[in-house]
Amino acid sequence: MFLGPPGAGKGTQAERLKADLGLTHLSTGDLLRDEVKRGTPLGLEAKRAMDAGELVPDAVVVGMIRDRLVGDAAANYLLDGFPRTIGQAEALDAMLAEKRAPIEHVLLLSVPREELVRRLGGRWLCRNCGKSYHETFAPYGGEPCEATGGKCDLYQRDDDRSDAVANRLNVYEAQTAPLVDHYGGRGLLRRIDGERGQDEVYGQIASAIQGG
Ligand code: AP5
Repeated sequence: MFLGPPGAGKGTQAERLKADLGLTHLSTGDLLRDEVKRGTPLGLEAKRAMDAGELVPDAVVVGMIRDRLVGDAAANYLLDGFPRTIGQAEALDAMLAEKRAPIEHVLLLSVPREELVRRLGGRWLCRNCGKSYHETFAPYGGEPCEATGGKCDLYQRDDDRSDAVANRLNVYEAQTAPLVDHYGGRGLLRRIDGERGQDEVYGQIASAIQGG
């Protein structure tokens, strides 16, 4: 499980980790954006909260995760952006107890707030393959899109506007940061210095996982 504020690099590191370990990547942000794109009732309900940088109600998100988690008994999951509240963490515990599956690692990516603001303000994503770039730290160099083979079709997210970013960071502190104690108290939490370069961050993640 990746824990950490918006812009800490959860999505970037998840892409690499899922490929290396053969994990099924469950990103609630990606799942919700897909619902919005398809204009489903769930997407319509979620859009207002997402654009404002608020959390989508627990019941909506938990229902969406439950559909996936119970679906494939054999898969090993990488959770990215879930849980985000104590209520969601308790719901996850109940789902995992049903599946008789443990949480093996909780990786907390820490990055100072000013750096998060810089990262989110400069982030560009590919509409087709979902790859994340940054105009300064990880510029797009014309590499072929992993979905189409053509050029990446880059866009900026609506919730990367400065007012929404400020709200997302405040919401993280108020509602998600308490999960650090929740998982720390169980001895599951590993702290990763997410301010380093992407390769170095990945190296820390790999060591944390190997170290148990
Ligand atoms: P979600 O999509 O989960 O957004 P987030 O947590 O705000 O995370 P981000 O995707 O913004 O950041 P990231 O940590 O993945 O960073 P990234 O790797 O992209 O959620 C969006 C919304 O959906 C929420 O606000 C909420 O409304 C709703 N939602 C989602 N889950 C929910 C839940 N469980 N409950 C309720 N509501 C929910 O990197 C960011 C940038 O930095 C990129 O440009 C990248 O290239 C760059 N970068 C990455 N690593 C480095 C590095 N080491 N050095 C320099 N630059 C770097």
